[in-house]
Amino acid sequence: MAPEIKYRPIGIFDSGIGGLTVAQAITNLLPNERIVYFGDTAHLPYGDKSTAAIQAYAVKICDLLIKQNCKVILIACNSASAAAYELVKEYVGSKAKVLNVIDPIVSYIGHTYPGKTIGLIGTKQTVNSNVYRKKVDELDKSIDLKSQATPLLAAMIEEGFFNDSISESVIHTYLSDPNLQHIEALILGCTHYPLIKKQIESFYKGEVDVLDASLIVAQHVKDYLEANNLASDKLIGDHTFYVSDFTRSFEESTRIFFKRRVHLEHYPLWE
Ligand code: DGL
Repeated sequence: MAPEIKYRPIGIFDSGIGGLTVAQAITNLLPNERIVYFGDTAHLPYGDKSTAAIQAYAVKICDLLIKQNCKVILIACNSASAAAYELVKEYVGSKAKVLNVIDPIVSYIGHTYPGKTIGLIGTKQTVNSNVYRKKVDELDKSIDLKSQATPLLAAMIEEGFFNDSISESVIHTYLSDPNLQHIEALILGCTHYPLIKKQIESFYKGEVDVLDASLIVAQHVKDYLEANNLASDKLIGDHTFYVSDFTRSFEESTRIFFKRRVHLEHYPLWE
């Protein structure tokens, strides 16, 4: 017999293991939910890929997550949310609810910062797609969004450079850009950035709110599940973490993104 819909897992996907920051926030807030995670490490980073390439990857990953019987598919990657959300939503149709990491943040700033100037940092794909700007403008709340692509940050964090002098200097250079001045809050629009949140906060000396998207997204998933009677009341089975290309270094890095080391299973989706 098919499991009751609320006991089906939440599918989460990202370009790699950075999306584990979002998965971690979700498991903290929703300990009864089972997670099926897919990190497309074979195609990392998405931040420099074309929209068409990311869309093609996303559709194939969704096929897998649908096969895994996921009740919800969360695009945990900002770059993929920017490039592929509309297409994936249409593709998945009624088979699962598709959520992304951009809409919850846009709605949060709409409530919290009407009339203010807000900064956004993320990959080239996320910033150049202008998806945040379009969605913020649609709110019609007179919010001025200043965005800046910060492509070095994700690679830097992945290489373990955070809370050190190298990362201090890269962060300082990016955030000093004239384009990002006089902001009330800064959106961390990339899966990796929660790891440098404290450094960014200290750069701003408490004068700018630094918005950790993973927490806002986890709260959004919780609200969605509860409002739709889809929240599980007990954890059934184990979480699964797939990657499209396995290396020991990816598995080691799960520790920094998920706060504990997790076992990665190689799923050769592209072979
Ligand atoms: N996961 C990506 C994002 O949130 C960052 C890493 C990448 O470029 O693939 O935009």
